[in-house]
Amino acid sequence: MIYVNGQIYNDLNGTISPLDIGLTRGFGVFEHLVTYGKKPFKIEAHLQRLKFSADRIGCPLPKSLGAIKEIICALINQCPFDEERSIRVIVTGGLSCDYIERSAPPSLIICLQPHKELDDTLYESGVSVITTTIARFLPEVKSLNYLPSMMALDAAKQSGAFDALFVRDQQILEGSTSNFFAFKDGALITPKSGILKGITRSVVIEIAREHFPVIEREIGVDEAFEEPFLTSTLKRVLPIRQIDQRHFELGLRVRFLQGLFQDHLSCLQ
Ligand code: PDD
Repeated sequence: MIYVNGQIYNDLNGTISPLDIGLTRGFGVFEHLVTYGKKPFKIEAHLQRLKFSADRIGCPLPKSLGAIKEIICALINQCPFDEERSIRVIVTGGLSCDYIERSAPPSLIICLQPHKELDDTLYESGVSVITTTIARFLPEVKSLNYLPSMMALDAAKQSGAFDALFVRDQQILEGSTSNFFAFKDGALITPKSGILKGITRSVVIEIAREHFPVIEREIGVDEAFEEPFLTSTLKRVLPIRQIDQRHFELGLRVRFLQGLFQDHLSCLQ
């Protein structure tokens, strides 16, 4: 189901102008959330981040956050609920005939699709990642420009890896579409800045704090950390078994966190 500026389409044919500046210049922002127990997980936090991103790039929102939430909930209620949904909320700068001026109202697009979980084997055996020095512009903003992530991901696939980690000045920042965590000296560590502040990251920090010290700090790519893992809306808690040529044991702590995260989701259903 696709919503475009008030129109609902029950196929993949929702239309937006080819002159929308979201397409011609990548000017816009988005959020990606999923339902658990048919309820949108952390919708308030996602909408707050949508507003943060929009403010940061100077893109007005076409509606209040409350109104966007109501539309999302109404769309979810209209879906035949055989499975969970993935929900993409996109705001673009709207129509721009000269590809620069943004005089038209911004566009709001909301796409609902069945939520496809990653293969269970990835959670069991962990994934391999490469590192890349490609840099994201405005990493704290979820803008429509995902060129660095797409290029990093392509480079990972070409070398047979699952994903790529952005590294700057020998410090790990985040995955192409995920955040990075690891354990060191009994503490859970995660990069503090130069990243998108993931909603899953904040949930993991919150639930882990009851069991481990959690430290947000720079993480050197050569540091002796253990049990690294990725987090995101679509990946949840995904263990890493290899970073470039370095191999990691899948330990009990990451398993424990996966369980805690799952329990947290089950409590909501
Ligand atoms: N991506 N870092 C980047 C660069 C991301 O694109 C994402 C999410 C995250 C994790 O954020 P969260 O926990 O809020 O999903 C971190 C989404 C899933 C996407 O690109 O569709």
